[in-house]
Amino acid sequence: MSYIRIDSDHTSYILDLTSFGIPKMIYWGPLLDKNTDPKQLGMAISKPVYQAGLDTPYHLNLFPEHGTGFRGKPAHLGHRNGIDWATQFKIKQTNQNGQHIQIILVDDIANLELILEIIMDQASGVLARRSCLKNTFKTPYQLHYCASGAIEIPGFCEELLTFHGCWTGEFMIQRESFSKGIKLFENQTGRTSHETFPGMIVGSKGFNETFGTVFGCHLGWSGNHRVFAEVIPDGSRQIQMGEYLFPGEIILEKNESYKSPWIYSVCSNQGLNGLSGKLHSFLRNNIIPDSVRIKPRPVQFNSWEAVYFDHDMEKLKSLALKAAGLGIERFVLDDGWFHRRDDDTKALGDWWPDKKKYPNGLSPLIDYVKSLDLDFGLWVEPEMVNPDSELFKNHPDWVLNIEGHANKTARNQLVLNLRKDAVFDYLYEKLDYLLSNNSIDYLKWDMNRVLTTAGNDGIPGFHDQTNAVYRLIKKIRRKHPYIEIETCASGGGRVDYEILKHTHRFWASDSNDPLQRQRIQKGSSIFFPPEITGSHIGPAECHTSGRVTSLSFRAITSLFYHFGCEMNLLELTPDEEDLLKQYIDIHKKYRKLSHHGTYVRLNLDKTHRNGYGSISKDLSAALFCIVQMETPGHNDNQVIRFCGLSTSKMYRIRLLKPVDKSIEDRLKNTEFWFKGYNLTGQVLMESGISIFMPWPQTGILIELTQIDESR
Ligand code: DGJ
Repeated sequence: MSYIRIDSDHTSYILDLTSFGIPKMIYWGPLLDKNTDPKQLGMAISKPVYQAGLDTPYHLNLFPEHGTGFRGKPAHLGHRNGIDWATQFKIKQTNQNGQHIQIILVDDIANLELILEIIMDQASGVLARRSCLKNTFKTPYQLHYCASGAIEIPGFCEELLTFHGCWTGEFMIQRESFSKGIKLFENQTGRTSHETFPGMIVGSKGFNETFGTVFGCHLGWSGNHRVFAEVIPDGSRQIQMGEYLFPGEIILEKNESYKSPWIYSVCSNQGLNGLSGKLHSFLRNNIIPDSVRIKPRPVQFNSWEAVYFDHDMEKLKSLALKAAGLGIERFVLDDGWFHRRDDDTKALGDWWPDKKKYPNGLSPLIDYVKSLDLDFGLWVEPEMVNPDSELFKNHPDWVLNIEGHANKTARNQLVLNLRKDAVFDYLYEKLDYLLSNNSIDYLKWDMNRVLTTAGNDGIPGFHDQTNAVYRLIKKIRRKHPYIEIETCASGGGRVDYEILKHTHRFWASDSNDPLQRQRIQKGSSIFFPPEITGSHIGPAECHTSGRVTSLSFRAITSLFYHFGCEMNLLELTPDEEDLLKQYIDIHKKYRKLSHHGTYVRLNLDKTHRNGYGSISKDLSAALFCIVQMETPGHNDNQVIRFCGLSTSKMYRIRLLKPVDKSIEDRLKNTEFWFKGYNLTGQVLMESGISIFMPWPQTGILIELTQIDESR
């Protein structure tokens, strides 16, 4: 086989195998004509020999090796006691089964086998790739790095979008030029991390939500990672992603293999919205468990910011009653329910109900919640243990550590070594018992600390720990298939495509501050669709920022996502209750659209605004949200141009009530806003509409409905 071509509905991907070494990609973009000749295509982009270069020019490929002359960062680092560190893999076999390609390569000198796997999703064109490295010799092979894959980026991609972040500030977008050198993020926290979400986008100059050719990559892995974008001195460009391995973490004995995590990549010539559309549909159809697609996402109440550790049965029942009256559909009992858990200094690991708070177990509360027709969810943090706990007293040797070294606590807790069978079995039994003996529909699975001295019998334990977490969740779900699970790690510290194969939503952040949430959700929405993005209305004064905001701004900010409330509902005034109920009703009315439609972001970066919306598949209906983030730069109206609509359809445009008082005052003489008026999609996208929002931290919801099919 000299060339391999895979097509999806809208994308073609062509590999050149003529060098017999690692294949190189010669085309990746919009669907090509069937008659395109790959040989000529390859010739058209072949490289010149230049004076100071190698006599046979080096082409970046799927897995660049130092041993074949590559001058950038190679895809593989490892050795066998100092030798076999520079490889020259040759193709041994190629298998293609529809959209699935497997290329088996060997290096008979280094005694290594490499399998590169590529799967293209037919509908979205998303490429999933991974590598697998096997030691075929009798002496052990020390592996330091094995990229999931290198993504070859065309030279016209001059700009780079990456993510940085922190606790309560996840998924922050940063833009810069993609120029010579390396933009590298390494994560050694033992979870996906708040700080360096493993996603990168490169694109043509000036790319934005609706414009430009863009390429996006994401590493589906909930442990350590190493991701970088590099412009190599010869001008070629790559993105590489793989697991970050500590020295000694992976030592391959004879015939042992290392399998990398999956890297997901996608291209779009319709800017970031085009890219997100493909990623969202891929995730919806291939990654997240089925029930997300099948069942409406229930509106949640979460007890954390309402009561914290102060669990009082009567109060919890009153909260549940109030929640049910407001139209909430699931009651989640957060941290504080188990043996001696009165604050965050103790008890993690002792997974049975606290006798004082729950003398008859959780059932009386659960039964009450269920009598109100609410689902019941429970918070757990299985991977952790407090030194002040029965579990730790009985098994001090069950934690990840390096013997003789001080083991650092974080939030007063240590990490259990899930690689040990006894630990794994203990956690499985405890969770299984809880789920088998209580009518629980949902688990909020938390993970509140980074891994530091994560030694597993002294050896770095990050890789095994990450896989053991997946195994544990899988085993629980196999036994209790109806259970839905939320992934949380002090907010959005463990959000990626691999954990989402096992979980049904993620907690995006511990920040319920709507201003901050607008930024966080803008970033997360590039890779993740709204229905799995947990977003709650918190108290007026945000507990993690101190900012005071209106109820409508908080509600509007959560409305498109997996919606919920996380505050003391018993303190609401009757007016607030009424307003909250209105927003819950709006959410329910539109959630089919916002959770199954095409999510788009508007190009509003330079206007102190944020804007996004969901459009139905047939383009007949849409809901948009426009938020005034900061004080407007001028007093004139600002025009909003929509996107993603049908140019030829006529839409009725209507502002949804309720609106914030400051906006209502401005719109006094413009009742037409609420009655609605008609414009074509073309006018809405090309000319736009003008909206005046005088106050920062306010927002509006705009409904667009097709009124005339004939135009
Ligand atoms: C961190 C989570 O992000 C919060 O939502 C809450 O569940 C606390 N942990 C409980 O300890």
